[in-house]
This record gives sequence, structure tokens and C-alpha cells, in this order.
Amino acid sequence: MRTSQPKTIYLSEYRVPDFLVDHADLRFELFEDGARVHSSLSIRRNPEAHGQGSPLELNGDSLQLQSVHLDGRELAKDEYEDRSDLLVVPSVPDAFELRVVTWIEPQNNTRLEGLYKSSGMFCTQCEAEGFRCITFFPDRPDVMARFRTRIEADKAAYPVLLSNGNPVDSGELDNGRHFVTWEDPFPKPSYLFALVAGALVEKNDTFRTMSGREIDLRIYVEPRNADKTAHAMDSLKRSMRWDEETYGREYDLDIFMIVAVDDFNMGAMENKGLNIFNSSCVLARPESETDMAFQRIEAIVAHEYFHNWSGNRVTCRDWFQLSLKEGFTVFRDSQFSADMGSPTVKRIEDATLLRTAQFAEDAGPMAHPVRPASYMEISNFYTLTIYEKGNEVVRMIHTLLGPELFRKGSDLYFERHDGQAVTTDDFVRAMEDASGRDLSQFRLWYEQAGTPVLTVEDDYDEASQTYRLTVAQSIPDTPGQTGKKPQHIPFALGLLAANGTDIPLTLAGEHSAGVTTRVLELTEKSHTFEFTGIASRPVPSLLRNFSAPVRVNYPWTRDQLMFLMSHDSDGFNRWDAGQRLAVEVIRELSGHAEAEVDPRLVEASRTLLNDRDADQALVAKMLQLPTEAYLIELADKPDVQIIHHARERVVKVLATALREELLDCYRRQQPAEPYQVTPEDVASRSLRNMALSWLLHIGDEGALSLALGQFESATNMTDQAGALRALVNSPFEAERGRALEAFYQRWHQDPQVVEQWFSIQAASPVTGDLPSVRRLLEHEAFDWKNPNKIRSVVGAFAGQNLVHFHDQEGSGYRFLADTIRRLDDSNPQIAARLAAPLTRWRKFAPVYSEGMRKALESVRDKDGLSRDVYEIVHKSLA
Ligand code: PHE
Ligand code: ZN
Repeated sequence: MRTSQPKTIYLSEYRVPDFLVDHADLRFELFEDGARVHSSLSIRRNPEAHGQGSPLELNGDSLQLQSVHLDGRELAKDEYEDRSDLLVVPSVPDAFELRVVTWIEPQNNTRLEGLYKSSGMFCTQCEAEGFRCITFFPDRPDVMARFRTRIEADKAAYPVLLSNGNPVDSGELDNGRHFVTWEDPFPKPSYLFALVAGALVEKNDTFRTMSGREIDLRIYVEPRNADKTAHAMDSLKRSMRWDEETYGREYDLDIFMIVAVDDFNMGAMENKGLNIFNSSCVLARPESETDMAFQRIEAIVAHEYFHNWSGNRVTCRDWFQLSLKEGFTVFRDSQFSADMGSPTVKRIEDATLLRTAQFAEDAGPMAHPVRPASYMEISNFYTLTIYEKGNEVVRMIHTLLGPELFRKGSDLYFERHDGQAVTTDDFVRAMEDASGRDLSQFRLWYEQAGTPVLTVEDDYDEASQTYRLTVAQSIPDTPGQTGKKPQHIPFALGLLAANGTDIPLTLAGEHSAGVTTRVLELTEKSHTFEFTGIASRPVPSLLRNFSAPVRVNYPWTRDQLMFLMSHDSDGFNRWDAGQRLAVEVIRELSGHAEAEVDPRLVEASRTLLNDRDADQALVAKMLQLPTEAYLIELADKPDVQIIHHARERVVKVLATALREELLDCYRRQQPAEPYQVTPEDVASRSLRNMALSWLLHIGDEGALSLALGQFESATNMTDQAGALRALVNSPFEAERGRALEAFYQRWHQDPQVVEQWFSIQAASPVTGDLPSVRRLLEHEAFDWKNPNKIRSVVGAFAGQNLVHFHDQEGSGYRFLADTIRRLDDSNPQIAARLAAPLTRWRKFAPVYSEGMRKALESVRDKDGLSRDVYEIVHKSLA
């Protein structure tokens, strides 16, 4: 807690550590009123450090120091300095053993960093700087130690005691206590340390690796969740196999464990051999979780597992390199998900998230490069830019090198840096060395923030049968960065002939190779490409498969967009053409209440609904209108209320005009039992629930009885929640209330389902007005200490319920500010994350931005603001 300005940390000030830790021998005595941590570290001076003779400094946070021993001798109080965040021992030899005993209070730890309690069990979260809340340690990722961990606790209350690596000892102690000792043979940074103690049940399986080793797989959950582990276990085995086949990476310990905990700030954590997951990112069964949850779980299980190589075996030198592990691992998990399902749909989903949320971040006050140059609080840098733009940057290397050279590059990277803590530059260098390609300009993607804008102009000359395309790039200024250099951008494109087929692409001076999609490499401010042998004016299909994280401006006519929607051989661009068309149509209505909805959008949607031969997964995506958040992102000084109402009108017009087709679609899309999460079945359920929600939106009585029937008889949560959401957003007030009540009665014992119930209401323009949202906060199932509950009510309201959050009187903003101030004391990470919507205040029309700014100022003026919230609020107001 502070009132003064927190310190800024700069990448340019990086120095190698003065001391290294070879072994960390830990002993935890766990009690109900606290925990005693005995740490014994074998430390030596780093031969590569400059400051030989410098004092030993260990990080700490909220620790009660009990004793310090150096080489077996207890130090007197004047032989060390116990500052609140640092333990300093001024004079130490070149190599020594340091024993430190600290006392901590996990039961009072509401920040959920370090060692804390979640529904009765002990668990840890150490990334990024949580280990220092457990004991004094050089808590930085370039200090890698071998850990040995002994856990002691009451045997009845905590029968399961887990840590990283392999169990090497266990036994009984006095007073009904017991212990287990774990040893991790792999040196690791402290952020990968983990410990769990609780009354958990264990679900087992095995996996035989490519070299024939048998790995013991275990998922630990509370007994009530014993029937929710199968999907995660399957996902884990698929991930292990995929990483062997795709990257040649084999698992390295004999045991791999996953633990589910209810109270968790993030999604999941890749601790060595002992991944800890937010319950909502690992537990599922068809009756209580949706398709979306199943897909998310598969991706996150894979993500954390893949970190074992991209993150753990090769880790980050410092936290500026965070995207080294996160961007690369998101890229790996997205390749995996694409392979397990529909690659086009996965690409659409990734691009949607990027264009809606990361582009917004990159255009706002918190914009930062994929490799940031400075930060105040590292927890604030687990961002869409580090993760999602970082993924895109790795994907572009993959595109530029092609799959074989990329694999050579990743092999070299893992081999060269195994056991090391390295930088994004080391990653790029491995890719260069393996491929022979020069990526020096490409490195700007790591250094420059902001979303590049490509402006495309074209011109067709019938006489010479040439088509000329000029592509200019510019990168907007971002905080602290102006006058940016052009970046190296892989720009995939195709050209469509009037009959809808792809034209072979031959650049002037080349021989025709017959390829119809080409990746042009943009490196200059502007390029002109001349295609020859083009018989008539083509329609360009630009940035195929979203080959770079950029915005593209090109003046397609609506007829051209319709044409691309039905003919483009690139599925992504077929979808994107539809999005562009819908954006234009909605825009045209904005502020013009009487304007007509362009009938071309209605007809395009009708064609899609009737097209039974098309890939239904793509059709389901194409029928989804751009979200309000995306429309706002695209707009200049958006008026949220106007955008909301324009979009609503389009939904109503579509639903009314397509009533028959929607009913027909609803009847037709009935996936067979048993429930499966295949792309086909997911698409079917998604189409069916979309049809239902559109029809209920216009108060269709026939659809009402379909919805009630589906709500009653659904055997999976996708359909049950789909019906509930449609009812909630319908004008049928009595049915809506009854359904919400029945749903809660049925599911109140399942916290994950209750979270869905909260978020359906809080995100709804119908039931999510501010007074109702406040009532949800008073509900018996709401819990201010549980991040998932906060996200499902406050997060859903501020992030998805834009019409109520952006109430023009500012009540939504004040509510969010109050919530942030309240949470800042108990859980600063969650408080800081909730502030994101307010940080974009400058973007909005004045009726909104004034209120947003005032709300931010009211947070800024709170006494004792955490470093987390301080950084976000001050940077946003600067
Ligand atoms: N490293 C985790 C992941 O992306 C995310 C995380 C960060 C979890 C910080 C907890 C704390 O896989
Ligand atoms: Zn990760």
C-alpha cells in the first residue's frame, strides 16, 4: 500500500544477478493460523556479475522474519537489514548456505499471490512475483535453482500434499500430522514453484511418450468435482501427443499433475510438473458446461502443458521478455486447437479477439510493445499485446519461414537454450540461424507498439492486362513512441475473377507459377505490385487468413463484399467480407433512425441460412453480427447508445425478414446424442441457439415455446444456457423470471454454473441495468473474495453490457470506480484488471469521456492505492 509514486523498472537497466542459488531446500509447516517457512539456500556469487563484494539482497513481501542463519550461525539483528520488501545481508562470503525462517498467514491472503487458501485447501501462485510472499529469495526468473520441498500438515484435513517434481519421502509426525517431500530435478525460477495441500481426490491416467516412458497423469479436485475431470484428461493426452508430433517435444518428469482451485486471479499456471488451474478452466461435463467452456479448457490445458518446454525448460531472462514464453505458447496452443477442430473458425476467433480487444489496447494509454521497455507493476503486463499480438508475431515468422524452416528454428531454439533464461531476441536469432533469413527489420514487431494500418489502392489497365496494387503502411503514435519505422509485414493476397475463381498470380517480370495466394513482403512505407496477365478487373482478397495483425483499408463496394462472401477461396476472408458488410450497414443506421437496413445484408444472411452444403461451422460464424465492442473499436468518438440501437435494429430486421429460415434452421440443427464437441456439433448448437435468440428478440410466440421446451429438456449446458440467454434477452418478462429462478434452483450448488447464471444476467441489456446488477452483488452466491464471481458480475457488466455501463449519466462508471476502490485493498490485481474499460475514455464521444475521466480520477484520489491500480490510472489520465 502506498501514497507515493511507485518506481518504474526499465529494460535498459537489466543487470545479471549478483548471486545465484543452486539449491533451495524448503520446509513448510502448515497450520490453521499461519505457516512457518524454513528456507535453506545454497548461494554463490555470480562469476558474471560486476558488483563483486556487493551485499546479498533477497526480495520479500508481507513476510514476518523469524531468524537468519549464515553457514549455520544465527545472525544478530545488526548483521542484516529487514526492509519491508528486501532482506539485505551486507557481508557474505563467495559461497554460503543461508537459512531463513519466515511466518506467513495464508488464511488472510486475499491477494491470491504467494501461499493462500481456497475453499479449505492451501495453494500457491508465484508468477510473476508471488514467491517473495512466501520467503525471502532472489525472485527473478534468471535465478534458477533446484528445489526440494517438504510439506507438513494435519493429515485428516490435508491428506494430499503436493509440490513440483517427484515425491521422494513421506511419513507420519506427532499430533496427527504427516509430511511429504518432493524433489524437482530441473533447475527452475521461483515463479514456477508450487505447493498444494488439501482434501482432494485424484483422477489417474497414463501416457506413453515417444521414447516409451510411462507418465503418471493426475488431476486433483475437490470430491464434489470428481465427475468433471475427463475432458481435461483427454485434452492433456492429446496435447502431449501433439507436442511430440509437431515440435518433437517429449515430457520430462515421471508425473504430471493438475490441480483445480476455485479462487484464482488468472486462468491457469504452468508450475513445473504441477499446473494449477482456475476451476473454470479445467472442470467440465456436458450437463453443466458449455461448448465454449469445453473448447477453452482444451486450449488452456494444452497451453499450460506446452509451457513445459516454451517457458519452463527455456524460460525468460526478465519480465520484459514475457512474450517469449506467452506469445510462443499461445501460438502453439492455437495451432493445436486448429488441428483439433476447424482451422478457419479458430483463426476467426483469434482475429476477433485481437481486433476487438488488442487493437483497442494498442490504441489506448496502456499501449506497449510486445517487448515492453518499462513497467511499474509486472502483473499489469499480462496483456492482450503480450499474449495475442505476441502470438501473431510468432505466427508471422512461421508464415515467412514456412513450416519446415520454422520447425528447424524451434528445434535449434530448444536445443541451444535448454536450461537457460533467455530473451525474445534469442528466439528470433534461432529462427534466423536455422533458416538463413534476415529478421532484423522484423524485430521491430517486438519494439514498436501500435497497430500498423495498410492503405491499399489499385488500378486496372485493360490494354496491358495488368493490375497494380499499391500498399502503404503507417503506424500510429503511442505513448512515448512517435515517428515509427516501417515494419516487415507478410501480406497474403489473392485476386478473384468475375466468375469467382482465383486468378493465378504472376508479378511483372516473373514466370507464372500458377499460385493463387501469395505472401507479399512489405518492408517499405509503400510498395507497388504489378500483376500481369489479368484478363479483367479483379476483386482483391487482401490479408488472407489474417496474415498479419494490421488494419486494412480498401474501398470495397458492398457488391464486391457480397461477391467475396460467396466466392473467396479463403474462408477467413469470406467471413471478413461479411463482417465488413455488416459493419457498413450498421454504421449507416447509426443516428439515422429512419434509414433502411440494406436489403443486401438480409439477402446475404438468407443465402447463408439456406446453404446446407457450406461448412456449417463457418456459416455459424458468418451469421454472427459484429459485436458492439468491435463496432466501437472501429469508430471514431463512438456514441455507444447510438451504436447499440443501430445494431439492435439490424437484428430485429434480420429476424423478422428471416423468420421462416430461422425456424427451419432451428429444426434442422439437432446434433445427435451423445454430446460431442466436434466442429460440426458445435456449429449446429451455435446455429440453433442463434436462431432461437434472434426469434425471441422480436418476441416471436412460436419461438417462445421452443425456447421453453429446450430449456426444460436440454441434456447439455450449451442448449440450456442458450435457451436461458434467449429468454433473458426476450420481451417475455414472466417466462424470463421463471427460467432464471428455475435455473438457479437447479444449479445453485455448482459455483461454475452459478457464474454463468450471473454473467448471463449482468451482460444482458434487458436484465443488466445497474440496480439489477447491484442486486446480484447482494445475492447469497456472490462473493467479493472470489475473482470468478467478480468477473461474472462486474466484469460482464462493464465489458459486455455496454448500453448500461455507458449510461450517459455516468452511473455505470461510478459503480465501476467504486468497485475498483473497494477491491484495491483486498486484491489489487483484480482491481487493476477491472479498470481497463475506463482507461479508454479519450476514445469516446464527450458525453461519455467526461464521466469516464471523472471516475478514473475518483480512483486516483483513493488513499494508499496499490501499485497495480496506480500505474493503470495514472497512465490513463496522463
Ligand atoms: N503464466 C500463466 C499462463 O499464461 C498466466 C498467469 C500469469 C497465471 C500470472 C497466474 C499469474 O499460462
Ligand atoms: Zn501462458
